[in-house]
Amino acid sequence: MAKTRRSITYRLLPAQTKVYLLEKKYKAFIGGIGSGKTWFGAWWSVQQLNGVGDGMILAPTYRMLEDVTQRQFIDFLDAHNIQYVHETGKSRVRTSSGYVFLRSAEHPERLRGTNLAWAWGDEAALWRVGAFKILLGRLRKNDARALLTTTPAGFNWVYEYLEELQSEQFGYVIGSTRENVHLDNEFVSSLEEAYTAEYAAQEIDGQFVAFEGLVYPEVRDGVHIIEPFDIPSDWRRYRGIDFGFVNPFVCLWAAVDHDGRIYFYREHYKTKTLLVDHARMIKAADVCNDQRDVVRYSQTVADHDTQDVAELRSHGIATTKARKSVSVGIQKVKARLAVQADGKPRMFFFSSLVHTRKELRSYRWSDKALKDEPIKESDHAMDAMRYIVMAVDGPKVGVRIV
Ligand SMILES: Nc1ncnc2c1ncn2[C@@H]1O[C@H](COP(=O)(O)OP(=O)(O)OP(=O)(O)O)[C@@H](O)[C@H]1O
Ligand SMILES: [Mg+2]
Repeated sequence: MAKTRRSITYRLLPAQTKVYLLEKKYKAFIGGIGSGKTWFGAWWSVQQLNGVGDGMILAPTYRMLEDVTQRQFIDFLDAHNIQYVHETGKSRVRTSSGYVFLRSAEHPERLRGTNLAWAWGDEAALWRVGAFKILLGRLRKNDARALLTTTPAGFNWVYEYLEELQSEQFGYVIGSTRENVHLDNEFVSSLEEAYTAEYAAQEIDGQFVAFEGLVYPEVRDGVHIIEPFDIPSDWRRYRGIDFGFVNPFVCLWAAVDHDGRIYFYREHYKTKTLLVDHARMIKAADVCNDQRDVVRYSQTVADHDTQDVAELRSHGIATTKARKSVSVGIQKVKARLAVQADGKPRMFFFSSLVHTRKELRSYRWSDKALKDEPIKESDHAMDAMRYIVMAVDGPKVGVRIV
């Protein structure tokens, strides 16, 4: 028997109302962490299920898509009693209004072949611009529309599209985390305590901020940030761990090719999780991605000033002591980021490492003139990355013999 669609009354937050009322073909909700972006995107997507045609929901990675973005959408379908079939093998949901394709922006070429009436993209600032361009090319139906929801990441392509290329078609609304009455009272104050004013302007108030004095301004999409590929089994592998509980615990995976170039190919980035669970997830990553082969690591480097090292070893992950000199490490990283005569740097990041990419774009010197010490915020993946570079390059590199 056909289900009857249940109507529910929601109260939109102030910024959500403004985006809803904004009459633009392509519109964006630019907001701080927890400002209600994903909730609104999923709610807006449900509004599109009115017979206009197929739609698409996109997240920066499959992991985010499954854990957060599509989940919120499916929760709304259930809440409204909307009849649907989730065809997991084909990553799509079938409704009486057409298909809703569930996609990751990691592989933009897989967006081709669809003919869309609408699309919602979550955390779009973490996509590469190529994914958005392909998406625009898929929005073919008359009156097709798109919604982007994202926290900004500096003046990247999202800013260019929305502000610099402002046109009849693009429009956006900025929303602050402070306006979300559904969050715990302490949430914003805990973020404010942890962030500098500049970082808070981006992460809480959703403002486009120029992070002057970036430590790694040379990082470029398409040069250092590359599409993922299968790592050959004979490349040396490393892991780098930066411990955290309230701050994120980060594990990065890297492989070194026969020319000594480093490819950061996977990240595990998670707060408020027990070490036993981190260990389980880190080990599981190898099993599902590398199938039968037992992956051997030349080294797993970590910060040895912490007691967590012993506990992690008891859960099956033995680490070696990271060489922690920040200034030496940054110099080594910068030497690898420099583009060589062949047009390539000596260090790359897979585009799927969204948290690492975000840190690369906001990691700054505490004094932009002196450039001797970075600000200790949003530096977790940056530390894990440096540990790996220091391990790969070994103690001899950079030592001057006098
Ligand atoms: N209009 C609303 N009505 C009820 N609850 C809402 C509304 N908007 C947001 N929320 C709730 O506020 C919380 C944060 O919302 P959401 O996860 O959408 O924020 P976000 O901006 O996507 O966060 P993040 O930056 O972590 O991705 C969630 O618990 C969500 O259910
Ligand atoms: Mg969200």
